[in-house]
Parts: sequence; structure tokens; C-alpha cells
Amino acid sequence: MSSFWNIWIWVLTLGLLVVIFLLLRMCLKNFAGVEEGESMGHSFDGIEELNNPLPKWWSTFFLLTIIWAFGYIAFYGLGSWTGLLGWKSSNQGILNLAESKAKTLEYLDKDSGVLVQYDREVAAAEAKFGPIFEAYAARDIKDLATDDEALKVGQRLFIQNCAQCHGSDAHGTTGFPNLADKDWLYGGSPETIKETIMNGRKASGMMAWSSTLGGEQGVKEVAAYVISLSGRSVDPELAKAGKGKFAICAGCHGPNGQGSLAMGTPMGAPNLTDNIWLYGGSKRVIEESIRNGRAGIMPPWKDILGEEKVHLISAYVYSLSQD
Ligand code: HEC
Ligand code: HEC
Repeated sequence: MSSFWNIWIWVLTLGLLVVIFLLLRMCLKNFAGVEEGESMGHSFDGIEELNNPLPKWWSTFFLLTIIWAFGYIAFYGLGSWTGLLGWKSSNQGILNLAESKAKTLEYLDKDSGVLVQYDREVAAAEAKFGPIFEAYAARDIKDLATDDEALKVGQRLFIQNCAQCHGSDAHGTTGFPNLADKDWLYGGSPETIKETIMNGRKASGMMAWSSTLGGEQGVKEVAAYVISLSGRSVDPELAKAGKGKFAICAGCHGPNGQGSLAMGTPMGAPNLTDNIWLYGGSKRVIEESIRNGRAGIMPPWKDILGEEKVHLISAYVYSLSQD
């Protein structure tokens, strides 16, 4: 702080305190020229102004606040004087420019010229929490799924990384599967869940079938058949025509629509007979799935989280569908 501003602050602060004190003293004096309690000679709408002193308790508190101000200045300083406690705003974690520049240099990687604060913090966290994850990673997923402490950590990792798609309760939403039920696209064994999370999944092959099915009529027929598979009532004529065309679909969804998992090929073609729908089970949405196709993507986490964390999340996900 330049000395001008330093002086400016001293004069302004102390000057104001003195002015306030003088003002208080003046008000405590009876300078009106009439006795206390007598009329001041003013009357407003029949209400007379009397010469009453300031209440004692009020003026005492006022005086105390002025004394307090001097005490405050003594401890916390004024201008560039840091006071008896040596307090500075830069002590509160806000660095001045020089300190901030020095800190930046500390985080500068000399070879690459890149700031590495994040990398160093990650490395520090690894060193601290690494052994915990390592210990969990050495245990079986089924075993971890019964360990409340492990599940708590797994849940936290899930909320941070997976909840934006699968929901914080893992119940999923349109296009993002529910992970808390027993209905799986790729499989619900501990190994398969881990494989899914490690390497991700790409639902493939559910292309737009409209032209293959001979246009809109074909789509409506197959959709009617698909809806009938879960026991809902449909136009029997449409469904019958659709059943014939379903041969195209059977390679992935199975001859009876029971899904690829039931056929032992976990390639993500859903079971169409259980009335659990990834994209929605209304006639309109099912027709849309068939007409335009679907291509859900589950991103791989191997490189983002590392195997140890994936192992722990797998245990959490596995635990959700166990009773
Ligand atoms: C960007 C959105 C997104 C994120 C983030 C995401 N997922 Fe997924 N996940 C999907 C989609 C979409 C599918 C379904 C893929 C498909 O349609 O075949 C899926 C499928 C899955 C499956 C397979 C379900 C089954 O029925 O076989 C599991 C298990 C899973 N996710 C777990 C996770 C976990 C654990 C995380 C966090 C580490 C995660 N997902 C993060 C979108 C996401
Ligand atoms: C090459 C494999 C393949 C073929 C053939 C195929 N599908 Fe699919 N189907 C899939 C996959 C994989 C998904 C899941 C898409 C996703 O997860 O994004 C899917 C999803 C669907 C869905 C959405 C299910 C839901 O839960 O919302 C319907 C409906 C469907 N298929 C019907 C059909 C019909 C009808 C046919 C034949 C005309 C057909 N599929 C042919 C692979 C296939």
C-alpha cells in the first residue's frame, strides 16, 4: 500500500471516530437553552417537543462501540500496520501477486512447462487412499458386496461417476438401464458387471429396420407382435403378419424374443417378453425403436478410474440386485 493511501485510511478512520465521539458528547450536553423536560417551543399537530436527554443506556452503548473500535484497530491493525495480532488478509489463503507467482512456479513442471498442480494432488491422494483400494481389490466381489464399509465407498464412486446416467439410486431412466433389478442386458454375474464397467458396451445391430420391413406397415406389424410377446392385447391380424417378419429379429432377440442373454450371447439385445423396456413400452416408442433403431453406449472406465476402483463399484452394483 502506498504511503498516501496508508495515511488516507488512518486519517479517515481515526478522524471519523473522533467526530462521532464529539457528536455524542455534544448531544449529551444540554445546549438548548431550556431546562431539561421543558418545552423546546415546537409543536407538531399538537405534539410538543420536550428537551429530553438521550437515554442513558443508549449513550453508554454508543460509547462502548467507540471504545470497541479502538480495541479492534489495536488487534487487527489499520492501513499497512498489521496490529498486535499481525493479521493480514493474505494470511487467510488469499495470496498477493508475488506469493501467487511463487506458488505457480512450484507447480510448474520444468521439462514440459505444464502446470501440474492437479497431477500432484492426484498423486498425493493415490498415496493416501491407494492402499485402501488395493486391499479391497484383493477381495472377491461377492465378498465385498456384503461389506458395508466397502459398499459405502463403492456407492460414493457410483454417485460421482455413474449417477448422471443411471440415476443416484441406479434405477436408470429412458435409454439408461436400471442396475438394481435382475433384468440384465449383458449379464449380472460379478465378472460380467466388472467387464461391462471396465471396457464399456456398445449396443450394436439395432439398426433402422423400416426399409427392410417394407416401410411403415411392416413396422406396425412387427411392433404389434413385439407388444403381444409381453401378454398385451393387440390387433391379431397385425401381430400375425409381424410374427412372420420377426425372423429378421430372431438372430439377436431370440426366436421367441427372449433376448440375446437368454441365448447365451451377451450382445445387449433386450428381452422383449418381460415388459421391461429400456426406451419405453408404449406402442409409439416401440415402433420408433424399430423404425429408427437404437444404439446405446456405456463408456469404458478402465482408463478413467483404474481397475481397483472399478472392482469396488462392481461390488456395489452387484449388491443392488441381491436380496
Ligand atoms: C454417459 C452415460 C453413462 C455413464 C456415465 C455410465 N453408464 Fe452404464 N450404461 C450406459 C448405457 C447407455 C448403458 C446401456 C448400453 C446399451 O444400451 O446396451 C449402460 C449399461 C451399463 C451396465 C449394463 C447393464 C446391463 O443390463 O447389463 C452396467 C452394469 C453399467 N452401465 C454400469 C455403470 C457404472 C458402474 C457406471 C459408472 C462407473 C456407469 N455405468 C456409467 C450409460 C452410462
Ligand atoms: C443385430 C442384432 C439385432 C437385430 C437383428 C434386431 N435387434 Fe432389436 N435390439 C438390438 C439391440 C442390441 C438392442 C438394444 C439397443 C440399445 O441398448 O441401445 C435392441 C433394442 C430393441 C428394442 C428396444 C427394447 C427396449 O427395451 O426399449 C426393440 C423394441 C427391438 N430391438 C426390436 C427389434 C425388432 C422388432 C427387430 C427386428 C425387426 C430387431 N429388434 C432386430 C439388437 C438387434
